[in-house]
Amino acid sequence: MASILLLYRTRTGFTKKYVDWITQEIACRTVPWEQINNVDINSFDIIIYGAGMHAGRIQGLREFKKMTSGLVGKRIVVFATGAAPNTEEIVAKLKADNFSENELIHIPFFYFQSGMNYEKMSLSGKAIMKVYSKFLELKNNKSDIEDGTSKAILNSYDHSCRAYIKPMVNCLKEFLTKDGGTHIIG
Ligand SMILES: Cc1cc2nc3c(=O)[nH]c(=O)nc-3n(C[C@H](O)[C@H](O)[C@H](O)COP(=O)(O)O)c2cc1C
Repeated sequence: MASILLLYRTRTGFTKKYVDWITQEIACRTVPWEQINNVDINSFDIIIYGAGMHAGRIQGLREFKKMTSGLVGKRIVVFATGAAPNTEEIVAKLKADNFSENELIHIPFFYFQSGMNYEKMSLSGKAIMKVYSKFLELKNNKSDIEDGTSKAILNSYDHSCRAYIKPMVNCLKEFLTKDGGTHIIG
């Protein structure tokens, strides 16, 4: 029976919200990154990593890749949450900036739009967003995406949606069917 570990990092709660939705559909052991030492990752067949975007990078992905690089016979799945909308152009850039071509062949990747939470953001996070929104505001010849982003990031908002997880849930269900798992809920 295939078992699933879902490791995640969350700073302002969006990734945790998606983790909760995923675990309502697929039974997994969920572990926040800070508690990684309490778990034997080698005892799981499928290892999922989820985290928020930070200046174009999936937070902590490099450490996660390092940790799982020596593992044999595991299925690895990664998802990211971010304020940007889920467009083909944005997701293509995100993949190119965070994965090698070879990794993209072996690691299914999913992107879920979330939002911005200024109430829970660190002071440094707030400062970075302020500088970035000013930079976009002053930029000449903004693309539609940059124009939309400069307005969207001024305030807190939440565009998270449970339906966005469907492709990832389907991928996990396919793995479980192939690997002989019985962890599908509902
Ligand atoms: C400093 C900072 C940088 C960010 N950079 C990006 C980014 O490059 N792309 C994006 O889509 N969202 C970006 N965001 C938004 C977060 O990725 C988004 O809110 C994410 O869901 C946060 O996840 P968490 O609440 O689980 O930590 C950024 C937020 C902060 C505070």
